[in-house]
Amino acid sequence: MSLRNILIHPDPRLKKTCDPVARITPEIETLAADMLATMYEAPGVGLAAPQVGVLSRLFVMDCNKDPEVEPQPLVMVNPRITWSSEGLNSYEEGCLSIPDQYGEITRPAEVRVEWLGLDGKTHQREFDGLWATCAQHEIDHLDGKLFIDYLSPLKRQMITRRMVKLKREKAAG
Ligand code: NI
Repeated sequence: MSLRNILIHPDPRLKKTCDPVARITPEIETLAADMLATMYEAPGVGLAAPQVGVLSRLFVMDCNKDPEVEPQPLVMVNPRITWSSEGLNSYEEGCLSIPDQYGEITRPAEVRVEWLGLDGKTHQREFDGLWATCAQHEIDHLDGKLFIDYLSPLKRQMITRRMVKLKREKAAG
């Protein structure tokens, strides 16, 4: 298991529609394990494959924040939202590819997601609260969409400029 480098916005790989995963291979299992380790280390509650430069439909998440509770890692391959509630919920969202920037985003409060597990079986589950928000945020990543795409153009440009500056500073060392 190894930590992967998280891409920082703006990066063309974060704007791409990702390809479905044909089947669970050892490479996919390794990718999922690496992504979970990278997410926990960051720390974050979700991480999608394009964020580590792999344009495949896969993400990991664990929205449990109670340190007393066992980790609840979820790996979702080819995830699909099959139902969304009419009720909405707003969360102050952030993203590991857009560090230290946040925006209030409104999304369906509950969703049902169908996905392929690492066990090769189809799973289905309903999520609410932060889990529902996170699942939608991560599935957006697989379609090249970032949370800042929901913000006003002005706010999005402001955040993007900050990220360009951050990347320039990082490159300069
Ligand atoms: Ni994100």
